[in-house]
Amino acid sequence: MLRSVQAIRYVLPLREGGSLPAIVEADDLGMYVVKFRGAGQGILALIAELIAGEIGRAMGLRVPEIVFVEFDPALGRNEPDAEIRHLLRASVGLNLGLDYLPGSVMFDAAARDTAPPDEASMLVWFDAFTQNVDRTPRNANLLVWHRKLYPIDHGAALFFHHDWETMPSKARSSFPQIEKHVLLRWATQIEQAGATARAKLRDGVIEDIVAQVPEEWLESIPGEVPAAGRRLAYVDFFRRRLDAAHVFEQEAIHARSRLV
Ligand SMILES: Nc1ncnc2c1ncn2[C@@H]1O[C@H](COP(=O)(O)OP(=O)(O)O)[C@@H](O)[C@H]1O
Ligand SMILES: [Mg+2]
Repeated sequence: MLRSVQAIRYVLPLREGGSLPAIVEADDLGMYVVKFRGAGQGILALIAELIAGEIGRAMGLRVPEIVFVEFDPALGRNEPDAEIRHLLRASVGLNLGLDYLPGSVMFDAAARDTAPPDEASMLVWFDAFTQNVDRTPRNANLLVWHRKLYPIDHGAALFFHHDWETMPSKARSSFPQIEKHVLLRWATQIEQAGATARAKLRDGVIEDIVAQVPEEWLESIPGEVPAAGRRLAYVDFFRRRLDAAHVFEQEAIHARSRLV
């Protein structure tokens, strides 16, 4: 189960993408990188971050701990920056936090960073499975911390949830975008990674992850579908995606053979 913490201080904005994440101190003395429900990308980015991040963890990837971060209306009141004040006001309630890794740096192949084949293969499989396009050399979203790799930033994964009608066909997609993956060249064991991943995602693992998405996030998605229906639809997507795994595995293997 994901833990919940209370935000006590907005520390520092991390201005990179459009999602205005920030370092926040919480009441457990921890520091978290918070993705705000009130940010431009909206609640779907938080849902993707939670579901994809926890799937990655279940597969054995080193995703930093994910927690719910509760913001109360008092917190932003004295914030001098108007943009941050508005963001905090729009984010009262449950937000998503990732354990902050102090002193981590972004993976950079140009700086001769490398990745172990089993881990690279697992990450390639994971990104193809969750349809995450944000793992390119220019935007790796892969932190190196104490010489180990930590995948972050899964808010753009699960892009089918922006357009549910297309879900069944997206679930079978070969995901050609994998050719831009920052670790593709080290991913020599994609089929083995797939077998391991499928074994780890059995027995209700995905259902348990989807069950942790807060009701209030699902309820705030525009449209008529009740939260329970959304949960079933997410689980349905992943069941279909697992059935089609050979399609995206073969695509990734071919993309790699063009590369090396
Ligand atoms: N858990 C973390 N520990 C340390 N730094 C982080 C962490 N998460 C994100 N960052 C830093 O913050 C930046 C922005 O976070 P990210 O999740 O990539 O959001 P976005 O790209 O949507 O702005 C990252 O590129 C990274 O430099
Ligand atoms: Mg990012």
